[in-house]
Amino acid sequence: MTNDKRFYLSTPIYYVNDVPHIGHAYTTLACDVLARYKRARGYDVYFLTGTDEHGQKVEKAAQAKGETPLELADRVVKRFQSLWEKLNISNTDFIRTTQERHKLAVHELFRRIEADGDIYLGEYEDWYCTPCETFWTEKQLLDGNCPDCGRPTDKLKEESYFFRMSKYQDRILEHIESNPDFIQPKSRRNEILSFVREGLRDLSISRTSFSWGIPVPGNEKHVIYVWFDALTNYISALGFPNDENGNCANYWPCDVHVIGKDILRFHTVYWPTFLMAAGLPLPKTIFAHGWWTVEGQKMSKSLANVVEPNMLIDKYGVDAIRYFLLREVPFGLDGDFSHSALVHRINSDLANDLGNLISRSTAMLNKYFDGILTPPGETEAIDQALQDKFMGQLEVIDTQMGALAFSKALQSIWELVSAANKYIDDSAPWALAKDEAQKERLGSVMYNLLEAVRLIGLLVTPFMPETGANICTILGTDPNNQQLDEHDQWGLLVPGTVVAKTKPLFPRIEN
Ligand code: ME8
Repeated sequence: MTNDKRFYLSTPIYYVNDVPHIGHAYTTLACDVLARYKRARGYDVYFLTGTDEHGQKVEKAAQAKGETPLELADRVVKRFQSLWEKLNISNTDFIRTTQERHKLAVHELFRRIEADGDIYLGEYEDWYCTPCETFWTEKQLLDGNCPDCGRPTDKLKEESYFFRMSKYQDRILEHIESNPDFIQPKSRRNEILSFVREGLRDLSISRTSFSWGIPVPGNEKHVIYVWFDALTNYISALGFPNDENGNCANYWPCDVHVIGKDILRFHTVYWPTFLMAAGLPLPKTIFAHGWWTVEGQKMSKSLANVVEPNMLIDKYGVDAIRYFLLREVPFGLDGDFSHSALVHRINSDLANDLGNLISRSTAMLNKYFDGILTPPGETEAIDQALQDKFMGQLEVIDTQMGALAFSKALQSIWELVSAANKYIDDSAPWALAKDEAQKERLGSVMYNLLEAVRLIGLLVTPFMPETGANICTILGTDPNNQQLDEHDQWGLLVPGTVVAKTKPLFPRIEN
């Protein structure tokens, strides 16, 4: 049976001249949380990530290390893949631009656009920033340097193939204007609208000054521009053009390309105009998140402040890092990474709020009922209020997740954690326990509390899969079936279940 609810999302493909840092982890993690949430809501999800392995930048990095570009790529790609494993990333596929399937797709896309007359041979004379792999006109330079990164540019004059991007200016403008969700958040949309209104030039899409890339079909002197090559990954992974396993038909157009704000123009102007020229549908949304600084400074090798995710995971645990990165900064805005903020979040949100809720609930059930859940008795007003709060919040969270508002969704989940903690204080199980006549009521309170824990466990699972699985183990529910759409009603815990007593899930970190 095919599933009509399909969802395709992608990360950028990362350059292999650099090893993965917290910024790369952030984008991939955000996609993973969304992928897991959509799966839990019954969607058939295709979640793509990968590596961008061609271009002058990679060629130069390999030269500097005395390796071939492919040797460099083979080595660095393992660093990305092992980090994704360690971060519990649930990607469906991993595309490398040096794979045959990718080259085939790039060739076909190039050929189609060329056949329609939108690629022509000309001569290029402009300024090139290699770190950004971007051309600039003399006018765009800032004091002779790249206006994006401030580094020196080189004057390049060479024969080049051009893509007739100017021809698509009106169409792309019209598309952005009539599809308010195409570029998110809104501030980024406005930025691109003014960029396009200033006018689009034809784009150089081939190079002759180096060789590490995919050759232009029929003219091997040229290699295809690295961004033309890289952007095609979003369809090459699906199997474009032959579509042998039907993935293109099933998943394209993509629901959301998640990217950092640094590569907005490539995704919202270049990529859609390539697709228009090739007669292919455009992605539904491009969402650009903000930039992380570290302790107030830009992350850079020269400042030696690059935050290495492996080290953080070893020190604080994978779920704490996953939680922190998505809770600390509203998705779409810039943020600052600091160890003190991380420790503060772990202690207050995880150890205190969530951790205490779980250990108090399970400890009381063990103390008063030997850990065995009893059937709930009559529902009192305070119980109904708790239940209503949970059921109402599920919808709120669903809307927030649909808008990639991860930080807000976590706040909403934590409102439930607070509500459950308050339910303990208000119902005072320790007082009920003193009166044998209140035994049934005490059982009801315990049932409601653990039911709240169960639902919180389901909701945190996309963000913190290990924690979600731990909560299942504690409650005796199935960690391999955490489908929200099947389990998001109140009252599904089975009386008679034995609930384990637990060690704290998140020990406090002493500074
Ligand atoms: O641009 N804060 O690859 P890349 C937040 N290969 N996110 C950050 C970050 C930071 N400080 N630093 C990096 C490329 N990122 C191209 C993409 S896609 C067809 C080709 C994240 O290795 C963010 O997602 O330079 C950004 O867009 C991406 O890493 C850039 O990765």
